[in-house]
Amino acid sequence: MEGMVLKAGLLLQIVLSSLILVHGNISPEVLLQKDDSKEEFPPCKTCKLYVESFLKGIEKTAKGNFAGGDTAWEEEKQKIYAKSEVRLIEIQEKMCSEVSGFLDQCHNFAADIESEIEEWWFKVQHSKAKDSDLYTWLCINKLKRCCPVDHYGADCKPCLGFPNVCFGNGKCKGNGTRKGNGQCVCNKEYTGELCNECNTGYFQSYKDEKTILCSKCHASCESGCSTGGPKGCTKCKSGWAADKDIGCYDINECSDENICSGNQFCVNTEGSYRCMQCDPSCNGCHGDGPDMCEACAEGYKLQQNICINTQAKSQNTNENLYRYGVYVGLCVATYIIFQKNVFIASIVGVVVAIYVSVAEYILNDKTAAFDPPSIITKHLFGK
Ligand SMILES: *[C@@H]1O[C@H](CO)[C@@H](O)[C@H](O)[C@H]1NC(C)=O
Repeated sequence: MEGMVLKAGLLLQIVLSSLILVHGNISPEVLLQKDDSKEEFPPCKTCKLYVESFLKGIEKTAKGNFAGGDTAWEEEKQKIYAKSEVRLIEIQEKMCSEVSGFLDQCHNFAADIESEIEEWWFKVQHSKAKDSDLYTWLCINKLKRCCPVDHYGADCKPCLGFPNVCFGNGKCKGNGTRKGNGQCVCNKEYTGELCNECNTGYFQSYKDEKTILCSKCHASCESGCSTGGPKGCTKCKSGWAADKDIGCYDINECSDENICSGNQFCVNTEGSYRCMQCDPSCNGCHGDGPDMCEACAEGYKLQQNICINTQAKSQNTNENLYRYGVYVGLCVATYIIFQKNVFIASIVGVVVAIYVSVAEYILNDKTAAFDPPSIITKHLFGK
């Protein structure tokens, strides 16, 4: 007994210490990895996020620290606060926290542009100039990190096709930044330098000077098409045949009875077919299930149009015999305990009784027509 307790304690110690080891090993690595893989936002994006955060700060401080008083004195105080250094500092203190993973980079950026932001706050902000908004003034003109919309590269050249950039069917590489080459990356339906041609598998459904719309060809088309639907295909896909009235139509491969081999049946699909395994009770079939057999497999017999296993009954009687053996064993065990301790024996007896009735109930549900007691008596007494 003492040895058992000792062994269990030792086992617990081993488990615990290995858990501590594993944890101790993992956590620093995970932390380091996190630091290594932390990516920085690109220059224009950094400036843009900073500006967004700053503008939110302006919104948040719009009412100042005043309880919305309506006296002339309070109004005057509010006016002074609106353009004050106090408000600027308040904004700067609370910003940078909206975008996750941006905080450190945002603070570094803010430190770098301290004099610029002061210049904007005190001089530019309230001027009537067209480019006095913080993003244009700071990110595009002052720091030269960004370009206006639909412009790209070091000199902010217009993107290809400007002002109808990429025909509205793609993205301009470097759009709005000082990077990229201004070329189009077309959406999947389009191709060509300006994204004004239809890609293969798509047809032109609309076109005017400034617009082109391409739509998907029907699923039955090999590649291209002139219009939508199965009639528009230039060529039909394999598994489809051409008809001059309805266009491409699905070939029913299953009309060839020998297309599937052995114990399988055929299922037609759009453009193809599948061979599926027959029910194990069949030897050849024309569909799924034991009622679709052409003939019964070995060991099965046709009864009311279904192939039924002739070996199933004898198997079941064996299983039943085994099960009743277990019940008898349980009863004997309960009896042995009964001789030593009546109280424990009655508990065990109740548990055994519950076990037996639950097991029987479940089995009866499955094989409702089966009658185990009659079979066991037959086996035991040979009647
Ligand atoms: C360029 O970016 C702006 C917004 O950043 C977007 O509205 C516009 O559609 C983009 N244009 C192209 C061609 O990528």
